[in-house]
Amino acid sequence: MARPTGRTQSRYVCQACGESFLRWEGQCRNCAAWNTLVETLVREPGPAARRASRPAAAAGAEPVALRSIADADVPRLGVGIGELDRVLGGGIVPGSIVLIGGEPGIGKSTLLLQAAAGLAGTAGTHVLYATGEESAAQVRLRAGRLGLLDGPAGDGIRVVAESDVGRVVELARAGRPALVVVDSVQTATVAELDGAAGSVGQVRESALRLMELAKGDGIAVVLVGHVTKDGTLAGPKTLEHLVDAVLELAGDRYASLRLVRATKNRFGSTEEIGVFEMGERGLDEVADPGRAFLVEHDDPAPGSVVAPVLEGTRALLVEVQGLVAPAGYGTPMRKASGVDANRLALLVAVLGRRAGVGLGSHDVHANLAGGLAVNEPGLDLPLALALASSFRDRPIAPGTVAVGEVGLLGELRAVAGIERRLREAARLGFRRAIVPRSPRGGRGGPAPGSAGLDIVEVGTLRDAVRASLAETD
Ligand code: TYD
Ligand code: MG
Repeated sequence: MARPTGRTQSRYVCQACGESFLRWEGQCRNCAAWNTLVETLVREPGPAARRASRPAAAAGAEPVALRSIADADVPRLGVGIGELDRVLGGGIVPGSIVLIGGEPGIGKSTLLLQAAAGLAGTAGTHVLYATGEESAAQVRLRAGRLGLLDGPAGDGIRVVAESDVGRVVELARAGRPALVVVDSVQTATVAELDGAAGSVGQVRESALRLMELAKGDGIAVVLVGHVTKDGTLAGPKTLEHLVDAVLELAGDRYASLRLVRATKNRFGSTEEIGVFEMGERGLDEVADPGRAFLVEHDDPAPGSVVAPVLEGTRALLVEVQGLVAPAGYGTPMRKASGVDANRLALLVAVLGRRAGVGLGSHDVHANLAGGLAVNEPGLDLPLALALASSFRDRPIAPGTVAVGEVGLLGELRAVAGIERRLREAARLGFRRAIVPRSPRGGRGGPAPGSAGLDIVEVGTLRDAVRASLAETD
């Protein structure tokens, strides 16, 4: 295959200290770390490659006063999926490189095929879909299931089952698509490297080559990366600083809701989320995300309370569930799903010491409905109340939401964006909110727009437990 301009050599680079060696060794001779040497291509770039990798900094660029820099309106390629375009900041930027990560089977290929179809529907654009994971026939099968074959996508998406990045780059330079999708970066390989597909060296070098394509030729590139829950497949993680945007597709594989978040975005905010539902015909945008994570109950059940959480600028209402049961023998269990396990352990301790809810000899399970995972302090209070409710076997009155951070002394602390949270709760028909007492000097009174919501301000977890469990029969 054609070598890129410049001389290419392979070196073994220590991932801990950055020292490079000619040969692989088990231990780095510089920093003594074990198993950190990874084969890496070292290039002395020729002039062409140097220009390609640094398009903005042409040789001899002069500094320009901030004010006099032309306001370049970044052009966007809309993918025709509102929720995804929003997370991207208005669409994909030509010449940018985006990494989309998620667990295997979560729906990355589905989402990208739908996005590619949306883009291919625009006049004169086509998409190169390079798949190293599936055959072209399998991609066609999925497209058929998504109903994309007869639309403009049938012609506008060009599929190639190819994992050699050099070849993908050649095809892209020849065909000039608006977007190249590489599914996945873990199957992509560079012919000059020996390492197996998925090794850190291969993943990095593949991404670098595709970045040169993006920046040099103005073609947008989307990389798919598999990430496991515990982050053991670390390959894509090492790419995060290279790419322009990192999107994360999350959710419970066995439930239907999916969340797209941007964890990095050079062309937009990382505050937006997109909510989708996996259905028979791929991922559908959810019409009312605020309501998506709520569960309908016929009867109020002990151990459940709804929390208005903030995901970016959006308030979502999510049901927090707790189950407390006497432990059989040995150390009692603490199981958390969708919430932080350390936080759960801490809340169990605070409940026991400060709120008179002793769970020391009980198994404790906590869960967020809908497969959502949330890591924010505002979840403390609803989580603690769900556990107290389950322990006392008394339901919290239906129509109640709770939000707030719990301190080690059992005191409650205010959380950011309380107005937005309560407004959403009011909009969805909730009637009562248990919230931390507003800090002295802070803005008291009900949040604007939360009319109809009875706001119960409490100072401590003990009071919150009393307030939430007292009024039920
Ligand atoms: P996929 O996009 O292949 O996941 P990934 O690329 O992240 O590994 O999607 C995987 C799951 O989605 C698969 O189990 C089947 C399901 N699915 C649907 O439920 N509906 C559909 O229309 C499609 C295409 C897939
Ligand atoms: Mg896939």
